[in-house]
Order: sequence, then C-alpha cells, then structure tokens
Amino acid sequence: LFAAVEMAPRDPILGLNEQFAADPNPHKVNLGVGVYYDDNGKLPLLQCVQQAERAMLEHPAARGYLPIDGIAAYDNAVKALVFGADSEPVRSGRIATVQAIGGTGGLKIGADFLRKLKPGAQVLISDPSWENHRALFTSAGFDVGSYAYYDAKRLGIDFEGMLASLQAASPGSIVLLHACCHNPTGYDLSPEQWDRVVAVLQARGHTPFLDMAYQGFGHGIAEDGAVIQKFIQSGLDCFVATSFSKSFSLYGERVGALSVLCQSKDEAARVLSQLKLVIRTNYSNPPTHGGAIVAVVLNDPTLRALWERELAEMRLRIQSMRARLVAGLKAAGVQRDMGFITQQIGMFSYSGLSKEQMVRLRSEFGVYGTDTGRMCVAALNSKNIDYVCRSIAAVL
Ligand code: LMR
Repeated sequence: LFAAVEMAPRDPILGLNEQFAADPNPHKVNLGVGVYYDDNGKLPLLQCVQQAERAMLEHPAARGYLPIDGIAAYDNAVKALVFGADSEPVRSGRIATVQAIGGTGGLKIGADFLRKLKPGAQVLISDPSWENHRALFTSAGFDVGSYAYYDAKRLGIDFEGMLASLQAASPGSIVLLHACCHNPTGYDLSPEQWDRVVAVLQARGHTPFLDMAYQGFGHGIAEDGAVIQKFIQSGLDCFVATSFSKSFSLYGERVGALSVLCQSKDEAARVLSQLKLVIRTNYSNPPTHGGAIVAVVLNDPTLRALWERELAEMRLRIQSMRARLVAGLKAAGVQRDMGFITQQIGMFSYSGLSKEQMVRLRSEFGVYGTDTGRMCVAALNSKNIDYVCRSIAAVL
C-alpha cells in the first residue's frame, strides 16, 4: 500500500522549527515561525491567562463535549471583538460564528463550506501570502490564483496592480485578504486603499475572506479591527477567520474562530447549520480549555483591560526591535537604507534578502528566516539583535 508513497516536502515555516531544533550552533536564533518571545527570549504566559486559569481552577468544570460550534460565551465574545459589541450585525444577529481549531481551522471550515457553495469559484490570495493559504484552499478543492500585492522595487504595495488583478478576476471570485499585519510583507493597505478595494469587490461580486491572525499587533486592537467596519458598511457577505494564538500567546491551545457576516438573522442560522456540518464531519466539536480561557478574559472587564495592556506591551516591544534592527544593521556596516523595516508592521519583516542569502544565514550563522526573506522581528531581543545584525551584514 505504501510502497509508492513519496516523501512530502517540509513545511516552509514549521519545517524550519525542526531544522532549528537539530542545529548545534550555540548562537542560533529562530526568526522563522511567527511567534512572539519576550526580551529574555521566553514565550510569555500572559498574566491575564494565568489569572483566568486560576479562576477556572477555583470552580473546576467537568469536560463534557462542547456544542459543535463551541462555547457560546466564546463565540459571542469573538463577535463583539471582531464586529463591535454594539454593531448593527451583532444586534440583529446576522453573524454566524463558530469556535475553530486556531485561525487555520477557521480558514479550513470556511474553505470547505465555500467549496460546497461555490465549487467552481477561483480563490485569489495576495502575491505573496502566508505560505499555508494556497495549500489550504487547494486542498479544499479550489483553483488558487493570486493578485498583485508586494512591489519589491518600491518596497511597498503595488496598489494599482492589486486593483487591476481584482478587476480582471472572474466575477464571483473568493478574495483572501489580510485584515492587518500582512503576513509575510508587513505592509498594510491605508484606510483609503481599503475603500477602493471594497468598491472593486462590490462591483465584481467577489466574496471577501479576511484572515485576522494579528489583531492588536499593528496599531492597536480597535485600529487593526477598523477595516471590518468597512465590510459591514459595504453590505457584502464576508468571512473572517480569527486567531488568538499570537494575541493571547496561546499558540498550542489552537484557539480561533470563523465568523460569517450574512444578510439576515435567518440566513445566519442556515449558514451556522452548514458550518456545524463541516465541523462535525471533520473533528466533531472543538476542545474546551483554550476557548474557555479566552472567553473568561474577554468577558471580564478587569482581565480584558489587563489583556489589552499586555498586548500593547508586545506590540511596543516589536516596534522598538524594528528601530534597533535598522540602527544595528547600519552600525554593522550595511550600506543600503534599511529604514523600510520601521515602515512595516506586525510580527514580520520582509527583508528583501534572497533565498541564497537566507540559506547562508541559516547554514553559516544559525539565523533562521523563511526562504522568501521573511523574518519574525517579534523573536528579536536585546541579547540576540547584535548577532543577528552582524550575520545579516555578512550575507549582504
Ligand atoms: C507564521 O506565519 O509563521 C505563523 O502563522 C505560524 C504558522 O502556522 O505558519
């Protein structure tokens, strides 16, 4: 049965973790996967999470099956966070939200549902996009194309190219958009550019699917979420995948969600029933612990305020590392202007380094980033930054 099974290639992001773990270099630095580490190089266990867990331990709950769509208090908290607690769609009940296994799980539930709804539709992702987007939508059965996004020469967004690709796509395409902190480039659309993108989506009858994995890592929770209001106003049907992996530092708990903005409460009830079918036939129902933590924090005003402070601390530390990276590269002798690193936002910097340079960084210096030149600036700290700067300077 297995004689002809071929070895699959390593995952371009998570595969780097395996390579990193096996690297004996004592100076090695992992800037591959998108994970935030504090200034001591430690994965934080947020205070708000610890306090929620302590509160949960005081009233230990048995672990029955959750409903197929997850914890109701969690789903409602996600709706309020993503769309606004007092927003019209929340008040009128026209959003279907399900707890998902991470943001990836939310994307996959949405992809499987869309495949039943629009089997012949084209899916368009940004060029470039998160490495897993193409694979995920392809495995759901879609033909996946791309729209122009990054302009390597201008170090920014090829906005006219983006609009042109969206205009040229077959009507009714599914367009995957990064709501904030674009992964991998770190370049986001301005509010005015979002308006123009929304107008093209409306005119061409495309369906937007927003991936929101980094809310709070760009300019703030409200600021990063503001784009959702534009989609509400547009009247478009819309998908939003949420992840709390990074914003709660709960990577291993796989806490995410999928929300589908519908035209009416009745439509949302029917959509929810279909999402539940997808979940039931994949993994039956979601796990309890991570969703319960997030529900406790988001629904308690004191813990919520603490979470917002801790998230702001992570965001500000990343920003300070960006500035230190630019200064450190200059001090290490890099001639070219690397100031663009502070123009980018979120966890990543698209460094402009070639695949060859990234491979040299790994093999000669133990500094790991993806082959595309993406580096996770959230893993830089005051101890490793000089070494990383010297290593980048050496390969440039
Ligand atoms: C990343 O892009 O590194 C993260 O989203 C982690 C992942 O699952 O790839």
